[in-house]
Amino acid sequence: MQTRTNTSWNAALYEDKHSFVFKYGEDLISMLAPQAGERILDLGCGTGHLTHQISLTGARVTGIDSSASMIGKASVIFPDIDFRVMSATDFHFDESFDAIFSNAVLHWVLDKETAIDCITHHLRPGGRLVLEMGGKGNVEDIVVNTRKVLTRHGYYKNATTQLWYFPSLGEYTSLLEKKGFRINYASHYDRPTELQDTENGIKDWIRMFGNAFFKDIPQKDIDPVLEEIQESVRSTNYRNHKWYGNYKRLRIEAVKN
Ligand code: BEZ
Repeated sequence: MQTRTNTSWNAALYEDKHSFVFKYGEDLISMLAPQAGERILDLGCGTGHLTHQISLTGARVTGIDSSASMIGKASVIFPDIDFRVMSATDFHFDESFDAIFSNAVLHWVLDKETAIDCITHHLRPGGRLVLEMGGKGNVEDIVVNTRKVLTRHGYYKNATTQLWYFPSLGEYTSLLEKKGFRINYASHYDRPTELQDTENGIKDWIRMFGNAFFKDIPQKDIDPVLEEIQESVRSTNYRNHKWYGNYKRLRIEAVKN
């Protein structure tokens, strides 16, 4: 089972043009407040940059990700850290953790109940879960227009692809409470995110994160579709000569009862 729905990950493109994912995650580490000697799991660690920063505090950290390509890259960049290929819905360790940290990953996990069960199982009582994920309304303009353009081109099945789960704050905190967590902090806020490429920002973003929308579409047909999607969000996502993703984040700190 994949942590990240149907997506083949290009770790090089991620490092090259989408490093904002882990750069924005840096202040989530302040919320985690890792202590020397604590056992911490970085769930969905990608190429390992935040795992590395957590390790600098003296915490004993392990990074997991369902993408072998991401873990391969992480292990090369940070050879002293323990990285493993494991899914958010099916990971196993003999010991429990003091904290589980997850940045920009849990919206990929459609089977959220199983993931939360797995997280709960691996936290000690009193252990904390610190997460950031896309919340309700996240990148909605890109998603809506991708579906519209695919439909216009006759790719009806592709247009119905379900890739992400962007819950409201009430929905996700209720789920956590149901699974035995107490919510210490929760916030749902706008974070417009500048995309690196001033010409092809939206097209690059979709190529990186939304490639599953284009399953089985001939390569020659993908570029015009991407071009049309990018133009259709120009009025909402382009300003001051830059492309933006209209991100809406959920940040939560919860403690296992
Ligand atoms: C996000 O971090 O909100 C996100 C990233 C990639 C695809 C969808 C959402």
